[in-house]
Amino acid sequence: MKHRLTALLQPFARFATLQFPTTYRSRIQSWICMALLVASTAAHGAVSVGKLRCEYLANPEGLDVVRPRLSWILDASSRGTVQTGYQVLAASTAELLKQNRGDLWDSGKVESDQSIHVEYGGKPLRAGQQCFWKVRVWAGSAKASRWSDPARWSIGLLNSSDWKGQWIGNPVPANDLQLKAPLPAPLLRKSFDIKRPVRRATAYICGLGYYEMELNGSKVGNRVLDPMITQYDKRAAYVTHDVTRLLNRGKNAVGVTLGNSWYNATVSEAWDFDKAPWRAQPQLLLQMNIEYADGSSEQVVSDSTWKISSGPIVFDQLRVGEFHDARLEKPGWSKPGFDDSGWSPAAVREGPKAILTAANVEPIRVMKTLEPVSVKEPKPGVFVFDLGQNIAGWPRLRVKGAAGTTVQMKCGERLNPDGTLDQKDIAQHVRSTDFQLTTYTLKGQGTEVWEPRFTFHGFQYVQLEGFPGKPDFSAIEGRVVHTAFERAGSFKCSNDLLNKIQTAALWSYVGNFVGFPSDCPHREKNGWTGDAQLIVQMGLEYFGAQAAYTEWLRDVGSMVRADGKLPSIVPTGGWGYNRLDGPAWESAFVLIPWELYLQAGDHRILETHYDGFKQWIGWYSGIATNHIVNYGLGDWCPARSQTPRTVTSTAYYHQCLRIISKTADLLGKIDEARHYAKLADNVRSAFNTQFFNAETGLYANGTQTALSCALYQDLVDDPHRSAVSQNLAEQVRTNGHRLDVGILGSKYLLRALSDHGHFDVAWKVATQTNSPSWGNWIMLGANTLWEDWPGAMSRNHIMFGDISSWFMEYLAGIRYDSRDVAYKRILIQPNIADDLTWARATRESMYGTIRSEWKRSPDRFDLNVTVPANTTATVVVPGVFDGNLRESGRRISGARGVKVIRQGLSEHVLEVGSGTYRFRLERR
Ligand code: BGC
Repeated sequence: MKHRLTALLQPFARFATLQFPTTYRSRIQSWICMALLVASTAAHGAVSVGKLRCEYLANPEGLDVVRPRLSWILDASSRGTVQTGYQVLAASTAELLKQNRGDLWDSGKVESDQSIHVEYGGKPLRAGQQCFWKVRVWAGSAKASRWSDPARWSIGLLNSSDWKGQWIGNPVPANDLQLKAPLPAPLLRKSFDIKRPVRRATAYICGLGYYEMELNGSKVGNRVLDPMITQYDKRAAYVTHDVTRLLNRGKNAVGVTLGNSWYNATVSEAWDFDKAPWRAQPQLLLQMNIEYADGSSEQVVSDSTWKISSGPIVFDQLRVGEFHDARLEKPGWSKPGFDDSGWSPAAVREGPKAILTAANVEPIRVMKTLEPVSVKEPKPGVFVFDLGQNIAGWPRLRVKGAAGTTVQMKCGERLNPDGTLDQKDIAQHVRSTDFQLTTYTLKGQGTEVWEPRFTFHGFQYVQLEGFPGKPDFSAIEGRVVHTAFERAGSFKCSNDLLNKIQTAALWSYVGNFVGFPSDCPHREKNGWTGDAQLIVQMGLEYFGAQAAYTEWLRDVGSMVRADGKLPSIVPTGGWGYNRLDGPAWESAFVLIPWELYLQAGDHRILETHYDGFKQWIGWYSGIATNHIVNYGLGDWCPARSQTPRTVTSTAYYHQCLRIISKTADLLGKIDEARHYAKLADNVRSAFNTQFFNAETGLYANGTQTALSCALYQDLVDDPHRSAVSQNLAEQVRTNGHRLDVGILGSKYLLRALSDHGHFDVAWKVATQTNSPSWGNWIMLGANTLWEDWPGAMSRNHIMFGDISSWFMEYLAGIRYDSRDVAYKRILIQPNIADDLTWARATRESMYGTIRSEWKRSPDRFDLNVTVPANTTATVVVPGVFDGNLRESGRRISGARGVKVIRQGLSEHVLEVGSGTYRFRLERR
């Protein structure tokens, strides 16, 4: 049928490409497209399948997961679409796949609604293997959908025996490996010949700390700050590049520049990275597998035949900056024919002790370029550029002048009263006179455009000194750098203040995700675990950061000490085990995998870390006295009131025990599940015995944090819930609707109030503009979130950012329904604030786009909802007023695909399958 119809229409399709006046042509083309679509829909049913992902990633190269999980999204026009079957084909070449021949795997038709995390079940995959795959689905009818467009993944090098090259670098005597100052960044090069046509060439590279690879004079790929920083004594990440198109028949050359990163931090600072056990001079391991069209193959690997020289980067330290002397550039050094006779042979090095793992994650990239909004000259020759936005990244310089002129770019987020740059707050922990400084010495050849490669800064202002002449706006641009997430969510509403808070939160999130979650991009750049766990919901909801968290958790998991203790920051050179940060920080190890399970249905992450969970929680069980944990920083950066740390620490201990118990249950370890559940019960009752006063309905000293913590962490016994939540609401009201919490409480407060019937109070806190509040930051000019309520410290911290999730979950009302995971069941339940007239959000879930948009006028309330195929949703239309509810103009009782569960004055509870629904409540 399909073939006949489409064949019939083919001549028309060709006809449409003939020469007609453009308007006619496009009209005819679109008719024909429509006709083709109708024909193919008739043949295949109204469902199509797309957005193929492998281990969360689009077409990943070089995975080290040998049974990767595949996911796809159904797109269906009809309501209530559920997948009833699927078929996956995986082939070793694109051609075979095109012919529908799955030589690696043909799943056959599998009757199942599973469309996420379908584990590859084909032939064992070997190192370097390429897999091309596609999927088709059934959705109720006997007809399969069309095949999806093809996608692919490739496997990296799996074992040390797959690596043929040697680690190479500067010929540094062993006792010099810990030099006080870094050496200039080495350039390594090698020429090689390609004699036959190449079918595929793949480069596997680990350059520690950072590398930049060039082939025949061009940078390979557009990744920056590669490989991501890892716990270098445990693992180092290698990166896979498809370089097929960069090779030439005949002479070729490969060149690699190495940077220090935290692999070789020489500058002393508060977190002792300079004393890290892994520290060594930069080194390189590279292997290029070249497969020829005739079936033969060859490898180019790093070894002693490579040549090494110093280059133009005379200094690079991640926390300090980078100094580049363009006079030392070696034009053409990564091209064939370059004369490297003056270069030394590269020294073969021992290599790191760590294992090599693939980087199964989105790369770090330059994501945006910002033009400055102003340039001022507060002192003669000192120019300050304002980018108008606090970012992570670096400045790009455009300059013309005499050779030898050195231009300095100092980066920071505050200005002194005289308009010059103020780095005091952010520079205090790095024992170096230079901080966030990049310098460029001109070669004196026309306009020179330069940007650093092996450092990044957190900044809004760039102070330029030594510039030849007067710079105009074009002298400096801001290069925004972070992990290249696919955006997974959006939120907007009629309240401008909230929109600004949201935008600031998004900037802070990405500014604190350059490879792994950090606290701030300038002062520390540290992987503070507490900051990460507090905003994991946000990371998944708006950035789909599943792969990035999974990758970082590899490092976190590797740091559980034999006695169970975790450090407060990961990666770490050993610092942070003996800190008092405590369970609110370390619990990231349990809370983040659990959130990956809830939001993305990730079972494997729980399996991977379960043993680590047990080991870690054991440390806390060991120090708990009568189940109370008296260890930890507690509610860090509080507004005013202090909450005893025993409250929040014990609550995290309890929360993690519950999660570990549920994890054990999921993994079929029933006895262990019972054991942890019992322990959690004991902690819960100890918590109530110790902190709860039934007469007053207060916990501990009755702070906002103490009360909201007990509610949010589900520690309050049912009969007391309402008293406790009323006390909390009252406490906030009498405080003039101002919050009085630190970073922990800031996550509990809005959620606890909203969940217990006090959304109106939460709303007033969220929209508050008096200090302390998020709104107050905005009034003070913030465009990122700050570290403390008064704004005295860092101005780009994400740890107060959970309000952004509250927008998505409580204002637009998109949440997962706890009866299932990964938004297989969705809950759409917006809350309506008096002075909000509309709100809308989208969430790209594993099943597709979820949308909630509401709008109100005096007599009408509209809620438009999109539910992705293969999921269902409970929609709660708030009873904004007494009215009639309709869907797409029909009375609700007769609306297609809508099941009325309950209707009352306060809300209308409906159940729907996939599709787009337009609910309207009209005043009676
Ligand atoms: C960091 C925080 C961190 C805290 C805990 C600070 O220096 O910037 O974000 O969570 O220390 O000790």
